[in-house]
Amino acid sequence: MRATVTAHKDYTISPIDDRVYGAFLEHLGRAVYTGIYEPDHPTADKDGMRGDVAKLVKDINIPVVRYPGGNFVSAYNWEDGIGPREQRPVRLDLAWHTSESNAVGVHEFADWCATVGTEMMLAVNLGSRGVDEARNFLEYVNHPGGSYWSDLRIKNGRKEPWNVKMWCLGNEMDGPWQVGHKDAAEYGKLAANTARAMRMFDKSLELIVCGSSNSDMPSYPDWERIVLEHTYDHVDHISLHMYFANREKNTANYLALNHKLETYIETVASTIRQVKAKRKSKRDVYISFDEWNVWYHSNQQDRKILEGAGGWPHAPGLLEDIYNFEDVLMVGLILNSFIRRSDVVKIACIAQLVNVIAPIMTEKGGPAWAQTIYYPYYFASIYGRGTALNLVVNSPGYESPHAEKTPYVDVSGVHNEQDGTLTFFLVNRHATETIETEVSLEGFAAAQIVDHQVMTHTSLEAVNTATKQTEVAPKKGSGASVGGGKLSAKLPPYSYQMIRLKA
Ligand code: AHR
Repeated sequence: MRATVTAHKDYTISPIDDRVYGAFLEHLGRAVYTGIYEPDHPTADKDGMRGDVAKLVKDINIPVVRYPGGNFVSAYNWEDGIGPREQRPVRLDLAWHTSESNAVGVHEFADWCATVGTEMMLAVNLGSRGVDEARNFLEYVNHPGGSYWSDLRIKNGRKEPWNVKMWCLGNEMDGPWQVGHKDAAEYGKLAANTARAMRMFDKSLELIVCGSSNSDMPSYPDWERIVLEHTYDHVDHISLHMYFANREKNTANYLALNHKLETYIETVASTIRQVKAKRKSKRDVYISFDEWNVWYHSNQQDRKILEGAGGWPHAPGLLEDIYNFEDVLMVGLILNSFIRRSDVVKIACIAQLVNVIAPIMTEKGGPAWAQTIYYPYYFASIYGRGTALNLVVNSPGYESPHAEKTPYVDVSGVHNEQDGTLTFFLVNRHATETIETEVSLEGFAAAQIVDHQVMTHTSLEAVNTATKQTEVAPKKGSGASVGGGKLSAKLPPYSYQMIRLKA
């Protein structure tokens, strides 16, 4: 089987905002406690943060981490997580039916972000609280000093303000599962008022308003239109979320799901354009896809805790999906979609980062390791920076419920003019056929392959565990070549590849 791709230096989509390689960390399950924070762990630093986890995080060079939720934020009092630890209250977390010790709050998270070299993206609670909480939190975090909240921050040990730029106006407010769930108009008014107050403090903040929790919500896509009609002039991004699952054990349909993702993005992009036109606005609003990942492996085992059968445990194992090789392909496809829609998607956060539906797993007191999906995320974040190319792809394909034709070869291309590299991320969705793929390189100087990484496995079900940490891992690729202005590569059945060229 053969596929052809044309890459032309001048046919570009958009510069890729680095922040599409962001991540999300919620006070949920073991994401924070025994995830990033475990004071008794042999690798813990002076702040109690796990060094082994910090290293795995640092290696991905994550530009931004969204915090503290998620559903958790909709009943969270940020003030519970500041001041002397021994005086912080234990609270019931209604979203996940657990107890929250508040041992980690904004100070500890900010210090950890500095350690791993990432930027904070904070969410305010627009579920159980509102404008007042948001303006106070903002003053605490960003005001230099000389006011009640900023002086309290200084008293609590942090002299300099953190100057957090990105702020989420609540989380998934369209979802009836959310504490303080609202209808679109109600939420739109509250979000607009909150945004106005926050901008009175600082006009340069980047504000993110809630879009739909997923494209199957009954209120979608009217939700986006109504919310944007209220908030268009006051926000910079609309937040979308989507999780992917292979519940019917149908790999072909599963791997076609990024069509659904691209339709979702395109629909909301049109809604943004519609509201912009209606308001005769000159400004642009973009998409912050601040929760995405595969999520289904742990659904069954989580049921009891979420229904409250275990009482109110602190940091139980929740949403601990163990990812397999098939999920590597899905995550590679999702990232390809974000690169292709880099014209409208300016922030995206893999959900989540550690233990909870995450590329990094830990054992309490034990090791931390990379799950299978760590690798496509790693390659995209490290090598997917630059300008997205508008590739022309000709590949045989198949029919699925998500599109008339899903090409077997899914590819994205990134040109980094700064370091003179050209990187392709390729997924072969075919179960049995190797696909000979030829990429015509137009307008690029003679190039040579500088890196080629391949992920394949004899079993789609293969996983990495504490004792078999590299069962699914990338291997150096072979057989790709460049000559006569063309890159030729063989894509084995069910494979993910990253090929990097230097001009
Ligand atoms: O990431 C897990 C949960 O998924 C988040 O708390 C919520 O925002 C979404 O429904």
